[in-house]
Amino acid sequence: MPRLLLIGAGGHGRAVLSALRDAGWPEPAGVLDDGGGALPGVPCLGPVSRAAALWRDGLRAAHVALGRNALRRDIGESLLAIGFALPPILHPSAVLARDAALGEGGVAMPRAVLGAAARAGPHAILNSGCIVEHDCVIGPACHVAPGAVLGGGVRLGAGVLIGLQAGVGPGLRIGDDAIVALGAAVVADVPAGATVAGVPARPLPG
Ligand SMILES: CC(C)(COP(=O)(O)OP(=O)(O)OC[C@H]1O[C@@H](n2cnc3c(N)ncnc32)[C@H](O)[C@@H]1OP(=O)(O)O)[C@@H](O)C(=O)NCCC(=O)NCCS
Repeated sequence: MPRLLLIGAGGHGRAVLSALRDAGWPEPAGVLDDGGGALPGVPCLGPVSRAAALWRDGLRAAHVALGRNALRRDIGESLLAIGFALPPILHPSAVLARDAALGEGGVAMPRAVLGAAARAGPHAILNSGCIVEHDCVIGPACHVAPGAVLGGGVRLGAGVLIGLQAGVGPGLRIGDDAIVALGAAVVADVPAGATVAGVPARPLPG
């Protein structure tokens, strides 16, 4: 477990720091945050633009702890281009099937479940208590929020947000950058860019 450079000192950053400590990672080398935010006990090393200089100084691993999917993906990809490793982070109470995979830059928070043969792409957030059932395929930079449940074989495109305690029926497809509102019950495929809400889930205008 290398010392990580963290990006993002907001709420998700605090949650990731807590997961790292629970999992026995070394204390992070520092945190970069464009808003000047701080994480308890972690040195503030400046804005995100300092990442390349810190790599030249010898830091080699990082994690982007930002909740916004597109920003997390863009910064994560720029760190990979610099040469940083983005090792996935697993809270010790997360459950990953032996044949499940969590991509680089991903995090599985407390009690998240990634079922048999499920795949989560790079920069994924599997948030507290979510269940991603067997054979699901999650595209890059998705966020499955706390308590959300994906039935078996669900496929998410890139940058999808599945909101708090939402459910997606088995085998359904959710297109790129779609948003499933908190508490929604998705019973049909969702097109790219759509926002759906309610039980059963229907498109929200706009
Ligand atoms: C769907 C969502 C993106 C809409 O946000 P928004 O664009 O700011 O929309 P508004 O709050 O202005 O609401 C617009 C309309 O949708 C309705 N609506 C919003 N969220 C809803 C939900 N979860 N279920 C049903 N209806 C909802 C509102 O009541 C409102 O209806 P009205 O026009 O009849 O008054 C947001 O409510 C949501 O669910 N975000 C996900 C949050 C989440 O789980 N984050 C993860 C945290 S870890």
